[in-house]
Amino acid sequence: MTDLNERIELAGALRCYLEELQDTGVDSLPLAAQETLENIRTGLGDCRRCRLCETRKSIVFGVGSNNAKVLFVGEAPGRDEDLQGEPFVGEAGQLLSKMIKAMGYTRDEVYICNLLKCRPPENRNPETEEIAACSPFLLRQVESIAPKAIVTLGTFASQTLLDSRDPISRLRGRFHDYHGIPLMPTFHPAFLLRSPEKKREAWEDLQKVMKRMLE
Ligand code: URA
Repeated sequence: MTDLNERIELAGALRCYLEELQDTGVDSLPLAAQETLENIRTGLGDCRRCRLCETRKSIVFGVGSNNAKVLFVGEAPGRDEDLQGEPFVGEAGQLLSKMIKAMGYTRDEVYICNLLKCRPPENRNPETEEIAACSPFLLRQVESIAPKAIVTLGTFASQTLLDSRDPISRLRGRFHDYHGIPLMPTFHPAFLLRSPEKKREAWEDLQKVMKRMLE
């Protein structure tokens, strides 16, 4: 049989199957197509959804693999990230890169992004309206990447994804469930630079993630 004949036969069988489904009352099928990161970035456009657009230099969307097994979520771009358009490239970023390397990954193999895509002036804390405007894009990034684990870095990313008011000290150290994805909150690398004695606890958190990746 030729390829063409095979395809015609298959199309006929598919038509019969769909007609049978229709007879049983099924009139639509779910589309399982996943939104791409590129589409999400395009939808963000030259974002003006909150006032951070007035002071930012770049929109810092995220870097890494679209198929990353581990997704790291920080708080917001700082000065270096705003200038370079890439998350975690400053001093805290260098520490994060070391932590990722110690887990056995490169920055290209994981995905790194932030809760806010624009820098808050003077690196102040994210405000409620800014989180409300920006977090839908993070949620879509999570859905698109569908990682095997999420590591939230610091209070704001952890509290937002977990819809919790608990401090990071209470949230960290154990897996939480984010729509079926294990989520490990840990200390933010900028905090670890100020409190190096907490690095051991952060490393324990990451080791739990590494172990989970082997399961
Ligand atoms: N801190 C963050 O939370 N994100 C960055 O990208 C850099 C520093």
